[in-house]
Amino acid sequence: ILLMLLMLLQLLAVMAIARVENFTRSDFPVDFIFGAGSSAFQVEGAAREDGRTPTIWDTFVYANKGLSHGASGDVACDQYHKYKEDVQHMVDTGLEAYRFSISWSRLIPDGRGRVNPKGLEYYNNLINELLMHGIQPHVTLFHFDTPQVLEDEYGGWLSRKIVNDFTAYADVCFKEFGDRVLYWTTINEGNIFSICGYDNGIGPPGRCSFPFGLNCSEGNSITEPYIAGHNMLLAHSSAVKLYYKKHKATQRGFVGLNIYASWFSPYSNATEDIIATQRAIDFYIGWFLHPMVFGDYPDIIKKNAGTKIPALTPSESRLLKGSFDFIGLNHYSTLYVKDSPSSLNVNIRDIVADMGLSALVEPEDASENQNDDTSSSLSGILEYLRNVYANPPTYVHENGKRTERNGTLNDTSRVKYMYSYIRTLLDAIKNGSNTKGYFLWSLLDGLEPIGGYTTSFGLYYVDLDDKQLKRYPKLSAHWYSNFLKGRTIKP
Ligand code: NOJ
Repeated sequence: ILLMLLMLLQLLAVMAIARVENFTRSDFPVDFIFGAGSSAFQVEGAAREDGRTPTIWDTFVYANKGLSHGASGDVACDQYHKYKEDVQHMVDTGLEAYRFSISWSRLIPDGRGRVNPKGLEYYNNLINELLMHGIQPHVTLFHFDTPQVLEDEYGGWLSRKIVNDFTAYADVCFKEFGDRVLYWTTINEGNIFSICGYDNGIGPPGRCSFPFGLNCSEGNSITEPYIAGHNMLLAHSSAVKLYYKKHKATQRGFVGLNIYASWFSPYSNATEDIIATQRAIDFYIGWFLHPMVFGDYPDIIKKNAGTKIPALTPSESRLLKGSFDFIGLNHYSTLYVKDSPSSLNVNIRDIVADMGLSALVEPEDASENQNDDTSSSLSGILEYLRNVYANPPTYVHENGKRTERNGTLNDTSRVKYMYSYIRTLLDAIKNGSNTKGYFLWSLLDGLEPIGGYTTSFGLYYVDLDDKQLKRYPKLSAHWYSNFLKGRTIKP
């Protein structure tokens, strides 16, 4: 009997492995959603057409700042004119949802007030085209592209004035599109936008709190990244309040916030690195999630940043706490954390110094030519959300593989990446993660903030030398399509 029992156990184990290896779309809950994503600046183009005004991202790339080699968004993938074709590609791939962002300055060219009919028309057309093909729109309101006019007028996210303007912009979107759009994300990667835009200067608007970052000749106030982040949180909670007050009863949609959420691991077994890892998590993840779940910043941020980070007033805290229907995660890999206590003693500090870290090291195996399975990073962050933030409804808003944009359609490393991350996601869900959807970054090879047009994340290659900007499905598009249609081929 014992032998038979052992054999049975062995058989079950083999079956379990087989099931995991051959998982498919139908192994996920029926209401789970699979899609791919983009953002307005990175794919739309038509930057000076039909009334769109410049954004801080246009200004930033025109000045040849950042790591995108001066690549402009003037044409990008021209999705503005080619949205119908792109929706057809989504249909061909079998996508169930499309995550895109609205360009604030296309919809409201002066940043506030007058609504641009051409902007309305474009997003109505795109949304209708998606719905006509049964593809669910997931809309982001802000993806790094503050209207330049608001930056010039009052410093964009550095001023509290943006809270009212953002809320009014969100109201226009809810009112105009909310009869059809049910999933709204207020802000994309507020944590990274604050760090890159206001701390190390590698992203728009390219301000530097630390004088030794890229493009930084001198430092601005070291309070800036914290102030920008703070105003984003206030703007988010204000938009959510408005949605609930004015639109929820009729539209019945959901509003969430997105954060950059890599996983963090200690660089070594040293206790210092282990403790430093928790600091990194609190600074990156807790910075935005703590206020939204518990109503305040993590203690370690308040301690290390001191008066640089604005305090949340009791009423702000009340408004923030619980101000989300879901959390969006942009998750790519694990960063390894090295302790650096001495960085806390220097006079001029940037955010990483406030974290007390000397380095966040990208793992070797995350580099683009390696195919190792790094997907345990995803279980790491999802488990953390489950344990620390009460397992909120979560969307993996971005997950994807960077490769060189060298024209090859045979992107086997991306297929392997997708296979292992989607498999890990399935395991996480079986273990109780409250993840509701997965969006691959990205649908098309667009303008990447790091790498411009020399790097690629897309399921579709876009031929920039072709006047028509023809799109070509890569192996990853075929693999995703097979998976979504019920077949998963282990790469
Ligand atoms: C983060 C951003 O949301 C997106 O704009 C960017 O292209 C990808 N992740 C890849 O880096």
